[in-house]
Amino acid sequence: MAKTYHIITFGCQMNERDSETLAGMLEADGFVKTEKKEKADVVILNTCSVRENADKKFFGVLGQLKHPKEDDPTKTVCVCGCMMQQQHVIDTLKQKYPWVDLVFGTHNISDFPKLLHGVRETNSKVVEVWEDGRAIAEGLPAAREFPFKAFVNIMYGCNNFCTYCIVPYTRGRERSRRPEDILAEVKQLAASGCKEITLLGQNVNSYGKVKHGEGSYCYLEEPEGQQVDFAKLLRMVDEVEGIERIRFMTSHPKDLSDDLIEAFRDCKHLCHAFHLPVQSGSDAILKKMNRHYDRERYFERVEKLREACPDIALSTDIIVGFPGETEEDFMQTMDLVRRVRYDSAFTFLYSVRRGTPAAGMEEQVPEAVKHERFNRLVELVHEIQEEKAVEYQDKVLPVLIEGFSKTDKTMLTGRTESGKTVDLPGSADLIGQIVPVRITKAQTFSCYGEVAE
Ligand code: 5AD
Ligand code: SF4
Repeated sequence: MAKTYHIITFGCQMNERDSETLAGMLEADGFVKTEKKEKADVVILNTCSVRENADKKFFGVLGQLKHPKEDDPTKTVCVCGCMMQQQHVIDTLKQKYPWVDLVFGTHNISDFPKLLHGVRETNSKVVEVWEDGRAIAEGLPAAREFPFKAFVNIMYGCNNFCTYCIVPYTRGRERSRRPEDILAEVKQLAASGCKEITLLGQNVNSYGKVKHGEGSYCYLEEPEGQQVDFAKLLRMVDEVEGIERIRFMTSHPKDLSDDLIEAFRDCKHLCHAFHLPVQSGSDAILKKMNRHYDRERYFERVEKLREACPDIALSTDIIVGFPGETEEDFMQTMDLVRRVRYDSAFTFLYSVRRGTPAAGMEEQVPEAVKHERFNRLVELVHEIQEEKAVEYQDKVLPVLIEGFSKTDKTMLTGRTESGKTVDLPGSADLIGQIVPVRITKAQTFSCYGEVAE
């Protein structure tokens, strides 16, 4: 009987994409996916360390694997991802979680099959984590979760060192893939029927700006006329036959160029949706966060985006309770949210990350104050979302049908270009298609609709 695997992914789209590579490698090796982690021959926990909650969830799930591993010592428990790039996590694993067999990091995913074979053949334990990325590994297999939409990495790592953020330490220095490799992947996806792609990077706006390591792409080294920055890359991807929707994330406001804004005017397949994390509305806090823009610059970018693309849906990330945040600073964030009127916003309580500059800052905000501000912010975000939802009522919009609704298995679910979820009656043959849908009931977080004739 075929050996089985189960992967649990924590955190962001980067991790989801990495898990697809791990799954692809396992399937190339003859493993088949199982839905039960307790039963799988190989279990992988792909971790996230962006906030403390993610750490806690990981240790909780890892605890649940203790007995299954004791019951079946031939089972292999693997842990990887961002948390493994931190020595204190490795130390904790060694001391308290002896049922872990294989530990690897974000930079040596391409070695996973070799490491796994070593562990399973010799019944040994292996910890192999590299400090930083080496040459970008191209051509790795991927077992994609959906046939009709896909994530495509365009770059890895981050050089920004926002003072709260652990990512530059866990994902290493910024490196960009070559445009021809990205295009080859997109074309291959299109040929296999994929309709929507999301270009991924920690800071896509700085695509190709820096050279780091063998094989990484830097447009400054290319002859004039052949330089591919992010806006140019979007234009190239826009030309790929068969790709009907292009999304990307994440953008840093400091690098949001006029060229990129222009691309929204010209690219036919670029979704009118933009995720532009602001983090805070206070200039003093933005400075302490090392974000390199102020609120005025942010407003100016938003205005320009809306001029170029009036129906653009804007979303953002906001951190509440960064060290030193006063009530006045927080009111500036509230004011910014009122002015921008986001279509959606991901709100986070500031979480101390060991080794980042903000962790050592004095004036940490008391938990109760953080929570109280957080609740006010969420309320405001929802109020605006509720008001904006009205605009969807009775409209006919193209919706990419993604599958059956999780809450009501008799209904299909899909997304508008702006990213809004729409549930509608219909049959399975619509899954993977973009269909015109009339919105019959617009709600704050999702809509109901029906296929328009
Ligand atoms: N605490 C809270 N939120 C954080 N983020 C990143 N680091 C932290 C932290 N230490 C948030 C930012 C980022 C999003 C992915 O996670 O808002 O944009
Ligand atoms: Fe973290 Fe800032 Fe880099 Fe985003 S840009 S990954 S928030 S350091």
